[in-house]
Amino acid sequence: MLKSHGCGELRGEHAGQRVTLAGWVHRRRDHGGLIFIDLRDSTGLVQVVFHPEEAAEATAVASDVRAEFVLQVRGDVVARKAGTENPDLPTGAIELQAGEATVLNASETPPFPINSDTEVGEAVRLRYRYLDLRRERMSENLRLRHRIVKFIRDFMDDRGFLEIETPVLGLATPEGARDYLVPSRVHPGSFYALPQSPQQWKQLLMVAGVDRYFQIARCYRDEDLRGDRQPEFTQLDVEMAFVEEEDVLVLTEDLYASMAREFASERSIPSPFPRITFAEAMERWGSDKPDLRYGMEIADLSNDVRGTEFQVFSRAIEQGGRVRAIAVPGGTDTARREVDRLVDMAKEQGAKGLVWVQFLAAGDGASDRLEGLTEEDVRSPVGRFFTPEQLGELGTACGARRGDMLLIAADRDAVTSKVLDVLRRHVADAQGLASPDEMAFAFITETPMFEFDEDEERWSAVHHLFTAPWEEDLGLLEQDPGSVRSHAYDIICNGQELASGSIRTHRRDVLERVLHTLGIGLEEARLKFGHMLEAFTYGAPPHGGIAPGLDRTVALFAGERDIREVIAFPKTKSATDLVMNAPAPVTAKQLREVHIELDDEAEEALEDRAAPTVERPSEAWGAAE
Ligand code: AMO
Ligand code: AMP
Repeated sequence: MLKSHGCGELRGEHAGQRVTLAGWVHRRRDHGGLIFIDLRDSTGLVQVVFHPEEAAEATAVASDVRAEFVLQVRGDVVARKAGTENPDLPTGAIELQAGEATVLNASETPPFPINSDTEVGEAVRLRYRYLDLRRERMSENLRLRHRIVKFIRDFMDDRGFLEIETPVLGLATPEGARDYLVPSRVHPGSFYALPQSPQQWKQLLMVAGVDRYFQIARCYRDEDLRGDRQPEFTQLDVEMAFVEEEDVLVLTEDLYASMAREFASERSIPSPFPRITFAEAMERWGSDKPDLRYGMEIADLSNDVRGTEFQVFSRAIEQGGRVRAIAVPGGTDTARREVDRLVDMAKEQGAKGLVWVQFLAAGDGASDRLEGLTEEDVRSPVGRFFTPEQLGELGTACGARRGDMLLIAADRDAVTSKVLDVLRRHVADAQGLASPDEMAFAFITETPMFEFDEDEERWSAVHHLFTAPWEEDLGLLEQDPGSVRSHAYDIICNGQELASGSIRTHRRDVLERVLHTLGIGLEEARLKFGHMLEAFTYGAPPHGGIAPGLDRTVALFAGERDIREVIAFPKTKSATDLVMNAPAPVTAKQLREVHIELDDEAEEALEDRAAPTVERPSEAWGAAE
C-alpha cells in the first residue's frame, strides 16, 4: 500500500506513531516558511505541517504543490498544542509532522473548487462529475446510498427473499413509457427493449415457484425528465406469492420504518403509516401524492355558492363541475404581484381563472374569526357578487381566519384538483411550511384500475395492466371501466411517490378481459403478452409486489431534492451523459451491422452536433504522434 492509514482515521491515540498518508491537497496555507496542508482521502481530512528547518526537502515539495495534487507524506503523528485543536475535525486532536513528501501526480486547476460547497452550474458539475464526486456532500451521498442498499439486502435476506437477476435485453411492450430499443445484429429488423421494470420477469418467477423475490434492478424509460425522474434509475423490485395487499403493505412499512430508524433517527415518522384511499387523497389534497406535513386541505364550496349570480361559479356547477378552495395561512399579506402570479399559475394548469379573497387581519385583541365582516375587512375581485358575510362563510368552510386568503377554483374535478394541488405546493414552498424534520409517509390505496386517455381516446391502466381489479368490480370491466377499483397501492412521503405496487391478476381470463378493455386486440395480445397468458395457464399462484424507487428513497434520507444528487453519473434533463458525451453517433459500419439507415432528420442533426472537445491535450500526445 502507498499509505499506512487513511487521512481521516488518525486520532489522539496515534500520537507518537510514524505513518504514511496519501491523498489530495485539499488546502494549503503558507505561513512564511511553515506550510500547512490539509490532506484528503476517502476517509477524511488531516492537517500536515511542514517545518523548513526539520524537513527542508519535504517543505520544498510542499511549497510547489497546488490544490488537488496527489501527495504522499511520511511523518510523525503529534498531538496538537493545547488551544490549537480543531473540534470540528475528527482528526483535530493531532497533526502530522512531515518527514518526506512525494508528489504522486500533479493536477490542473479544477474547474470549480473541491474544498468548498460553492454553487456550481449543473452542466459543469456533470461534465466533470469525477471531480464533483470528490466534494464532501457528494461523497457522503455515495456512501449513504451504499449503506442503504446494504441495509435493504440484509433486510430482505432476513425475511427469506431471494435476489435474482433478470435480463436487461427483453421485449418491447405497448403499454407504459416509451422503450429504449437495442437493434439486433443477428436478427435483422428485430429489436430488444431495455426493461422499464422487471415486472413480467418477476411475475414469471412467481410461476416458477420462487415465493419471495427481490432485486436491486436498473430500469430504463424514455420519458420526459424532471428532478425526480431519470431515464435510467434503480428500483428495489419485490414480488411475493400467496399474499394479499395487506402482506405487501406490512412488509413495505416495516422496511421504510426500519430505514428511517437507521438513517434518519432524528426525523419523525408516523406509526402506523396512514392509509388513504385514492379518492380521499384527490378530494382532500387534489393529488395522489399529497405532502401531509402541512394543512391547506381542499374544501368543497359548491353547496355554499350554488345559485349565485356569479356565473363563473354557477355555470361550472351546472356543467358538472365543482367550486373548490384552499385557505392560505397569512395569505392576506401576499403582495398583489404575487397574487397575480398565483392566478397565472392556475391558468398554466388549465384553469380559466382563480378567485381570491383576502380577509384583513383583526385589530389587536379582536377575534380572528370570520364573523361580522364589513366591506373594509375583505379584498376580492368578486366583492360585488358576494356580501362580506357570505365571503366570511366561504372562508369559515375552508377553515380560514382573519389574515388568511382563499383561493377558489371552479371547474371539473380534474382541473380544480390539479390547480389547487399546484398552488398548495407552491405556497407551502414559498412560506416554508414543510418541516424538514418530518417524514410524512402514507399509503395510497384503492387506486382506480383505468383512466381515460383523452389524447389517445382510449382507456389506459393507472398502475399497469397486470394489476388485479377488485373481485367485486369485475362486472364493471366492460361497461364502466372508470369505476373499477384495483389492488394497486403507493407509498408516498413528503409529496413524492416513493413506491408503487399491486396484487396481480393471476388468472388468464381476467387478464384477457383487461387487455380487451385497454383496446389491445387478440393478435397484439398474443404477440406481446402471449408468454404471460400462457404462463398463467400452468398454475400461477396468487401473487403481488411493489417497487420502491431507490434513487428517490436515498434522496429522501440524504435530504436532497433532486435524485441526480444521489446518482454517481446521472443524465441531464435532455438524457445526455456529459462525462462521456453519450449518446453519440456510431460509424457507418456499426449501423450497417445492425441494419439501420439514418433518415434526413438524423443526418441533419448529426451535422449540427458539436464534436466533443479534448480540452487540454497533453504534451505526451504530440510526442507520440
Ligand atoms: P412504477 O412505474 O410506479 O412501478 O415505478 C415504481 C417506482 O420507481 C420509481 N421511478 C422512478 N425513479 C426515477 N426515475 C424514473 N424515471 C422513475 N420511474 C419510476 C418511483 C416509483 O414509485 N413494476 C412496477 C412496480 C410493481 O408493480 O411492482 C413499477 O415499475 O419511485
Ligand atoms: P371573468 O368573468 O373571466 O372576468 O372572471 C372573473 C373572476 O373570476 C376573475 O378573478 C377570474 O380570475 C375568476 N375566474 C374565471 N374563471 C374561473 C374559474 N373557472 N374558477 C375560478 N375563478 C375563475
